[in-house]
Amino acid sequence: MKRIWVLTFFVLAASWLVIGTSLAAEEQGTGAPGEEIIIKGEKKSARFSHAVHLDLGVSCGQCHHNSEHQPLTDKDIAAMENSQQLQCANCHNKDFAEPKLQSIKDAYHTRCKECHKQGVGDKKGPTKCGDCHVK
Ligand code: HEC
Ligand code: HEC
Ligand code: HEC
Ligand code: HEC
Repeated sequence: MKRIWVLTFFVLAASWLVIGTSLAAEEQGTGAPGEEIIIKGEKKSARFSHAVHLDLGVSCGQCHHNSEHQPLTDKDIAAMENSQQLQCANCHNKDFAEPKLQSIKDAYHTRCKECHKQGVGDKKGPTKCGDCHVK
């Protein structure tokens, strides 16, 4: 009898692990990546966590927009065939119309650093190079 309980426990624990992992792959049904992502530039890389930012109540469209610069909602993003079109460097590259937003550095620093300085509510974001950049 005892063995059945032990077995049931392991089966339950295993299925809990599987469900837990698939939830972690996505930020709790928002369609945003659940794990911290590493954004690669030509020379540097930086880390970014959707979870940290969505917990602040920031909406997708504060960072993601389309080619007309219209903010994208979670529904717009869910309807995309390929999420790779969200990648900033698809548009912010040397062919971009506005010279000040051609480099990945300018596009990101404008978006990320401006808000970190300004803050959300009473929370400010980190502004030292090493807070975002990783080796
Ligand atoms: C709030 C986060 C954040 C902070 C703080 C920050 N950066 Fe960045 N930076 C980024 C992101 C994101 C990118 C784009 C991804 C990448 O290239 O690493 C970037 C890109 C760059 C690039 C272009 C790298 C490349 O490979 O094209 C340089 C250079 C750079 N940052 C230097 C700095 C320096 C120097 C500081 C400190 C004075 C700094 N950054 C602070 C987020 C940040
Ligand atoms: C504070 C800024 C910010 C917010 C808010 C944000 N994202 Fe992102 N997201 C990013 C950055 C930066 C990347 C990396 C883009 C790149 O690789 O150039 C990214 C990448 C993604 C990717 C992966 C794209 C790929 O490479 O396939 C998905 C999917 C995504 N975001 C969905 C969402 C959704 C859905 C929301 C709202 C629920 C959201 N994001 C909110 C900044 C943000
Ligand atoms: C589909 C193309 C496209 C993608 C992908 C894209 N942008 Fe943009 N972005 C634009 C256009 C168009 C504008 C408007 C430029 C203007 O008004 O001159 C713009 C403007 C901006 C601006 C300046 C205006 C503002 O909103 O503050 C920043 C900063 C910016 N983008 C950052 C980003 C970041 C960061 C990402 C990735 C998370 C990203 N963009 C992805 C097309 C794009
Ligand atoms: C709308 C405002 C806003 C934008 C845009 C934003 N951040 Fe943040 N970020 C914050 C705030 C506020 C915090 C502090 C959160 C806290 O203390 O809970 C933070 C925290 C962080 C942290 C430290 C927490 C952690 O994950 O370890 C990193 C790293 C970071 N942001 C990177 C970025 C990068 C890279 C971008 C641009 C792609 C970005 N942020 C865009 C507001 C923003």
